[in-house]
Amino acid sequence: MTIRNIVILTGAGISAESGLATFRGPDGLWEGHRVEDVCTPEAYARDPALVHDFYDARRAKLGTVEPNAAHRALARLDAEWSGELLIVTQNVDDLHERAGATRLLHMHGELMQGWCTACGERFRWAGLMGEGAECPSCGRKGAVRPDIVWFGEMPYEMERIDAALRDADLFVSIGTSGAVYPAAGFVQTARYVGAETLEMNLEPSQGSLFFDERRYGRAAALVPAWVGEMLSGN
Ligand code: APR
Repeated sequence: MTIRNIVILTGAGISAESGLATFRGPDGLWEGHRVEDVCTPEAYARDPALVHDFYDARRAKLGTVEPNAAHRALARLDAEWSGELLIVTQNVDDLHERAGATRLLHMHGELMQGWCTACGERFRWAGLMGEGAECPSCGRKGAVRPDIVWFGEMPYEMERIDAALRDADLFVSIGTSGAVYPAAGFVQTARYVGAETLEMNLEPSQGSLFFDERRYGRAAALVPAWVGEMLSGN
């Protein structure tokens, strides 16, 4: 099949070699908490300080890390691929865009953004947020939260993602455990429309059997090699 339209899904594993912790690694917990207990609207209502601590720590860490070879390779593919291409990331870090990717969307939100639950504005937020942060747009205190899609909330841009998947000739999943829907179901949509499917991950994901091709190893090694193949027509 001639490949023209590509959809790429990325998860925490693509940023692991930049030094950002994955969610479900061997030590799987954040200071003794399961992410499912911190990253929910209920947790935020119950203990906003805990939730702000979690994201403030992650935002601070982001300032100390750099994109790795896998992010750079996808940015190169984005720049040079003449067909349709969409990088859908579950990651809330900004390493894809810092590497230069532009055909990108953040389905789970962005760490470097806040949104005001009072006025609905979204804005860049680089420092600590904490309880009682003031909205730069309406001035309300205490209504600003991280612009992150929590468990139980609707991921962003689902219509655009679905449309891209339905046109895809190739769906590629990189560095995700396949534990969280709807992203874990994208491979199924791609298969229904007859796209080829490729998984690249450190280990088989929960959905590994749905992929036509599987490559296991470090993203920073696998992804540049795959991009090289795509751009040379192999
Ligand atoms: N190269 C490739 N894959 C790696 C690497 C690496 N260097 N290191 C780890 N991995 C793999 C792990 O084997 C694991 O399968 O990356 C995957 C990361 O899985 P998760 O931690 O579950 O991350 P992800 O799939 O992105 O989580 C999905 O869950 O908590 C929510 O909203 C959050 O977006 C996140 C979602």
